[in-house]
Amino acid sequence: MIVPGPPSQSLAAELAAATDRPLAEVSYDRFPDGEALAAAPGFAGDEAVVVCSTPGDAAHLQLLQLQDAVREAGAERVTTVIPYMGYARQDEAFEAGHPVSARAVARAVSTGADRVVLVSPHEPAVADFFDVPVAVVDAASLLAGALPDLVEPLFLAPDEGAVGLATAVRDAYGRGETDHFEKTRHSGSEVTVRPHDTAATGRGVVVVDDIVATGSTMSAAIAGLDGPARTLVACVHPVLSGVARTRLAQADVDAVHATDTLERPCSTVSAAPAVADALE
Ligand code: R5P
Repeated sequence: MIVPGPPSQSLAAELAAATDRPLAEVSYDRFPDGEALAAAPGFAGDEAVVVCSTPGDAAHLQLLQLQDAVREAGAERVTTVIPYMGYARQDEAFEAGHPVSARAVARAVSTGADRVVLVSPHEPAVADFFDVPVAVVDAASLLAGALPDLVEPLFLAPDEGAVGLATAVRDAYGRGETDHFEKTRHSGSEVTVRPHDTAATGRGVVVVDDIVATGSTMSAAIAGLDGPARTLVACVHPVLSGVARTRLAQADVDAVHATDTLERPCSTVSAAPAVADALE
């Protein structure tokens, strides 16, 4: 049975359909003192697939509760799918005395799972923090299916490290060039950000990243484009916190395309096919 966590109900339903597994009845409550209670009263069977992104502290706890609830109900094998893993960017102790938060949450999840599936984690190495086998699946290429017909498409990564992501989307789209942005400092206060090799003028530009959180990276990158015909954003995980949507609108982004690892209005692409492959 597929057991949906609160932030992943759409993806869990898609996954149930894609894998022909039943969707368990679940409930999400709170005690009067504020403590969370995520339960799976409808769960039955030997095998559970808990699907729960962890964009906030409550979701982390609800994931652990659902893992425990299905064990209580008799599950002998628990697969935990974490479509968007919160805290994954805290993958080292950045200052003395700081925690490696990604490792701490990975260890906690490992206590209740037999295996874990991660969707496009910020760094694949985060898989090493778990004490159980981990399958890492990439949902970026699925984003290509949402893109319209573009003039001379140009797939841009905000930095050199994300070129692989932009290339995956370009390859799935079937045509276009790939490049990345580069920051040039001209003086103490003057900086330009623009595509490293390729002009964007008059072209259909898709800026590709794994996460859009505050929107700062995207808006700075897009500000460096010289007269694109159309500017689209494609990201796997639309965190879109705070004023991110406003930043993107002010940057004249024509559309944002994202997956349902986080459920937002722009999450029109389901990561379910990628996750389903890992469950076979
Ligand atoms: C960082 O390396 C990631 O790939 C994203 O570029 C980053 O998380 C985006 O964050 P923000 O939207 O806050 O700039």
